[in-house]
Amino acid sequence: MSDILDIHNVNKTFGGLRALSDIHLQIEEGTIHAIIGPNGAGKSTLLNCCIGRLVPDTGTVTFNGQSMIGLQPWDINHAGMVRVFQTPEIFPDLPLLQNVMIPALAKRDGTFCFNPLRSLAGEKTIYKEAMTALADVGLDQLCNQHAGSISRGDKRRLELAMGLIQHPKLLLLDEPTAGMSRHDTNRTIELLQKIKERGMTKVIIEHDMHVVFSLADQISVLAQGQIIETGTPEEIKNSAKVKEAYLGEADNA
Ligand SMILES: Nc1ncnc2c1ncn2[C@@H]1O[C@H](COP(=O)(O)OP(=O)(O)OP(=O)(O)O)[C@@H](O)[C@H]1O
Ligand SMILES: [Mg+2]
Repeated sequence: MSDILDIHNVNKTFGGLRALSDIHLQIEEGTIHAIIGPNGAGKSTLLNCCIGRLVPDTGTVTFNGQSMIGLQPWDINHAGMVRVFQTPEIFPDLPLLQNVMIPALAKRDGTFCFNPLRSLAGEKTIYKEAMTALADVGLDQLCNQHAGSISRGDKRRLELAMGLIQHPKLLLLDEPTAGMSRHDTNRTIELLQKIKERGMTKVIIEHDMHVVFSLADQISVLAQGQIIETGTPEEIKNSAKVKEAYLGEADNA
């Protein structure tokens, strides 16, 4: 298998703060790769450097053989790298169904051509896909409810459906189970497993170790802007460096 994402020597500072230091990371196609680390370690910053929301000070991000540096977020999204955000970004005044149809229509028609006022009723194919995506995340029963009215956990699932309908080559998930009950977390784990069987590569940032160790093929540990270890779940569990920098800290929390 080849690497779908290659992050090479990425550095990012905010004023005097060094958020990312010399990041080297390869994500193998078809795998689930988790990135863990304490609050403020730089996990979201790293994802933002990949999707074009932030520009690294140095380094390269190569996705599917193409450099992403200098591309705008919508171009990167169009190339097939889709991020589900730590803070759900949804359209609260629209029903769930339309929330899921919009990214699919935007992808098909181009971001700037898309006119949300145009009738969505005639879009039969995308309507069906959206209903399937909502069923996948367990929200089909709520399809006519306004997105602003659903629970925080359901908003995260809605955003996951909005990501899935774009059929990304690489899905980046920033804390997909934050705000979910244990029951909903387990359903999300099952869903992400199912998507893995379809071959979609995923990078997951997650604080919940149950989620990380249930899903990940590879885990990278970020601490103070540096990757201190990458390995299989077993290797990470047994790493003294990781225990000291992260897991030990979590034990004491
Ligand atoms: N836009 C910004 N401007 C200034 N500082 C920032 C900015 N974004 C992040 N930081 C800082 O960079 C560091 C890394 O933040 P980041 O959000 O990447 O951490 P994280 O690992 O995602 O944390 P969490 O687990 O809390 O989500 C933090 O010290 C944060 O305060
Ligand atoms: Mg974060």
